[in-house]
Amino acid sequence: MDGSFATVALYGLGTLGAAAAVAGAKSRLDLSRAKYRSLGGHARIARTVAKLLPSYQYDEARIFKVDGAPETVVAARREDFHRLAALFRSRHPQTLQLTRETTELISDMQFTEAYRVPFQFSPYVRRHLPVGTFVESSSGVRVTDLDGYEFYDLTGSYGVNLLGYDFYKDCIARAVERVGALGPVLGPYHPIVADNVSRLTRLSGMDEVSFHMSGTEAVMQAVRLARYHTGRTHLVRFCGAYHGWWGDVQPGPGNPVAVRETYTLKDMSESTLRVLRRRNDIACVLVNPVQSMHLNKPAPADSTLVDSARRAGFDRAAYSEWLKKLRGVCSERSIVLIFDEVFVGFRLALGGAQEYFGVAADLVTYGKTLGGGLPIGAVCGRHHLMKRFRDDRPADICFARGTFNSHPYVMAAANEFLRHLQEPEVTVLYETLDAVWDRRATQLNQRLRAAGLPVQVANLSSIWIIYYTRPSPYNWIFQYYLRAEGVALSWIGTGRLIFSLNYTDADFEAVADRIMAAAQAMQQAGWWWVDPRASDKRIRRRILREILSHRLFPARAGNSR
Ligand SMILES: Cc1ncc(COP(=O)(O)O)c(C=O)c1O
Repeated sequence: MDGSFATVALYGLGTLGAAAAVAGAKSRLDLSRAKYRSLGGHARIARTVAKLLPSYQYDEARIFKVDGAPETVVAARREDFHRLAALFRSRHPQTLQLTRETTELISDMQFTEAYRVPFQFSPYVRRHLPVGTFVESSSGVRVTDLDGYEFYDLTGSYGVNLLGYDFYKDCIARAVERVGALGPVLGPYHPIVADNVSRLTRLSGMDEVSFHMSGTEAVMQAVRLARYHTGRTHLVRFCGAYHGWWGDVQPGPGNPVAVRETYTLKDMSESTLRVLRRRNDIACVLVNPVQSMHLNKPAPADSTLVDSARRAGFDRAAYSEWLKKLRGVCSERSIVLIFDEVFVGFRLALGGAQEYFGVAADLVTYGKTLGGGLPIGAVCGRHHLMKRFRDDRPADICFARGTFNSHPYVMAAANEFLRHLQEPEVTVLYETLDAVWDRRATQLNQRLRAAGLPVQVANLSSIWIIYYTRPSPYNWIFQYYLRAEGVALSWIGTGRLIFSLNYTDADFEAVADRIMAAAQAMQQAGWWWVDPRASDKRIRRRILREILSHRLFPARAGNSR
């Protein structure tokens, strides 16, 4: 009797074990299907590959002819490259001198200087075509360097500059006046905080707000709250999405520590929804709406512009549909849906991405422009998700502080920004926003096509990406031609142009003319010469051969192959 009971029990346990193993294998299979097929979708492999990639550089003999261009074209490229270098040296002497003197002392500058263009070209370009980092003033849509040279600003100050620099200068000046009597007192709040909270809850449709010092911190706090309230471990981010530089949202190269509690999944994919439906360890999903322009790809930077494969586009209806589905699954599974609006917040609509795409999130993070020109991060959410302690368990808390959060000057500048959003002129601005920026993008694309130039733009409202339509390894140099025409880009170059909304049609026309002139000059100098057999695939194959030969036979490969 005992023996047969034991046999049945063992059989039962065995069956349960087998069922659990099958379920586990299925769950792993689902997870692997939901990963985008690229290094970006596989953080661990990407980290390993990044460590194996050898450094090598093109020298004078090779740099202008990696595509096998004929000597006449190579000579034209070389001559124009040095023309640009001479132009920059003569036009920006003081700016370049200070840049030269300080680069070795500022690690951030060393990094950005090194990663403006693909690494094979970078040392030569840095040596001969240095770019100044310093500016002295701003006015309208322009910034002026130390030599008095004015650039049209398309850096957008990483997205902070939504309404024009003069507007933020006013915000800061008024902020200084309004909180001057209190000064930098931290801990107790200036009464302006109360007004900010009431405005932000109204705009976001949420119950509560917490203030932080940066977008990165706001994201950290939103994810921490989601983990605390769900009791689950993992966050889901979409392949390529940027959410600041905190480790958990950056599981691949760039973060020296392996990250175990982050799933990087495919954007706009049913296989991702399947994972969300089936797994029990997912606390939250992070959405950065700017990804809708380049699904599953990192923010386009010219440092990876080794060919012309970069593409971008935006389909508002399709992305809204996707977010609705995501919302549905998150609600079914009690997963916290976080919209990271640090970049796009207030740029697309008054009510942000939630309003623009017609989908309500559980938590929303804001930053950048919200600070009225000063540093800020904010999380808005429903009361039950924002709460940092449990009434029935006094020691079970969700800790979040920050010395400078709710700094009076920042709160006052943010208040100026938030109050301005209620002005009738801003309502009008939002009503016509997409029509204005879509028209501008369409017109520029028509001009570029009509002139036979291999350059196009894609846009999500006032956020633009340049892409290239002819296979070429030299597109990265377009940023220098734009600079020569007086257009300032951030260190990621033509991967992202950020317009402020105070660009009038006349300002925009001036920039469009400069983009045309830059592309024409680059075309004339032969950079877009293309071998009839050229393709992006061939370019990538050549680079792979170079990498392998430098990896396997470093001594033989030298530095110029
Ligand atoms: C979507 C998004 N989240 C978070 C951050 C991080 O913000 P911060 O640079 O203020 O830390 C950024 C910055 O670019 C961002 O674009």
